[in-house]
Amino acid sequence: MNIGVIGYGYWGKNLVRNFYAQKKASLKAVLDFDAKKLESLQKLYPSVEITTDLEEFLKKVDAVAIATPVFTHYELAKKCLEAGKHVLVEKPMTSSYAQAQELIEIAEKKGLTLMCDHTFLYTGAVQKMKELINNGSIGNVNYIDSTRINLGLFQPDVNVLWDLAAHDISICYYLMNEKPVAVQAVGISHTNNGIENIAYLTLHYASNKIAHFNCSWSSPVKVRQMLVGGDKKMIVWNDLEATEKIKVYDTGYELKTEEDKTKILVDYRVGDIFVPKLDSTEALFTMAQDFIEAILENKKPSATAEIGALVVQVLEASQKSIKNEGKKIAL
Ligand SMILES: NC(=O)c1ccc[n+]([C@@H]2O[C@H](COP(=O)([O-])OP(=O)(O)OC[C@H]3O[C@@H](n4cnc5c(N)ncnc54)[C@H](O)[C@@H]3O)[C@@H](O)[C@H]2O)c1
Repeated sequence: MNIGVIGYGYWGKNLVRNFYAQKKASLKAVLDFDAKKLESLQKLYPSVEITTDLEEFLKKVDAVAIATPVFTHYELAKKCLEAGKHVLVEKPMTSSYAQAQELIEIAEKKGLTLMCDHTFLYTGAVQKMKELINNGSIGNVNYIDSTRINLGLFQPDVNVLWDLAAHDISICYYLMNEKPVAVQAVGISHTNNGIENIAYLTLHYASNKIAHFNCSWSSPVKVRQMLVGGDKKMIVWNDLEATEKIKVYDTGYELKTEEDKTKILVDYRVGDIFVPKLDSTEALFTMAQDFIEAILENKKPSATAEIGALVVQVLEASQKSIKNEGKKIAL
């Protein structure tokens, strides 16, 4: 199977490196409308064909990975699907939920694989958390709380939630396997383009769970921390730790019912801390492999197009909530 990559910018370079390293498919061609970028690629990968022409590119490949700016994803993915190619789109999948749904429909009709690269789902940390939740060690997940802040690059077209919370939304859905029913968000822009550089997003669930994300490009320190609170144990994921990224706390509390219902009696339990070993394979390599195997074996990948669409749906609703001063928006 021949793979092609569209967009050889910051992230496209990582996709090219990881598709080039795959065994079950070969990286055949790369398209970018910037010919200079393609010249630099050819020095590193002489066997890969380069082109600035989409029609020519589509003739060479069976499957395409798209790593161009978000506003171009829908048009490019649609053209590739209509040409009968399997498609991997970078996150966020599209600029609107309607566009994401349309792409899913086209892929289904044509029997093609469509997935969205939410790379974090393939990290050793997220895989381990999923395993701990699935095997019951954490108990029922009550909440997820994430802080994703740093002195970040102010994006000219999307706010901080589209940039950073996209990761948290996909991880929450992957871990809890439950869609939120409503979202609430507030944020602020400190620039004159009105694009929020600090925002707080809350997801509400039908099953009494809650998730909250603090995202900022305006923090003096970088924090990448997620708490997953189960009713048996709790997880702290610090993605900036070199090795001990995940710590599982045998910590919990029990609420006692008393005759006097107004009194709340809480029994706290503080036990051991367990540091599990994580798989250190590069997440993007596993993601590229999953795309190829999904096509070859006609199975669903872990980062489905449905997760990609849900992320866009939540982001769209969060934007609406911010513009309505934090109003709760039903999904
Ligand atoms: N999965 C992740 O963790 C992750 C990380 C970073 C970026 N991304 C995503 O990757 C995508 C690209 O981001 P980036 O930072 O690499 O951007 P970038 O601007 O560095 O690169 C985009 C490249 O696409 C090319 N391009 C733009 N429009 C094109 C078109 N219509 N046809 C052909 N080439 C075109 C540009 O010339 C450029 O080389 C975005 O969707 C971004 O959100 C994902």
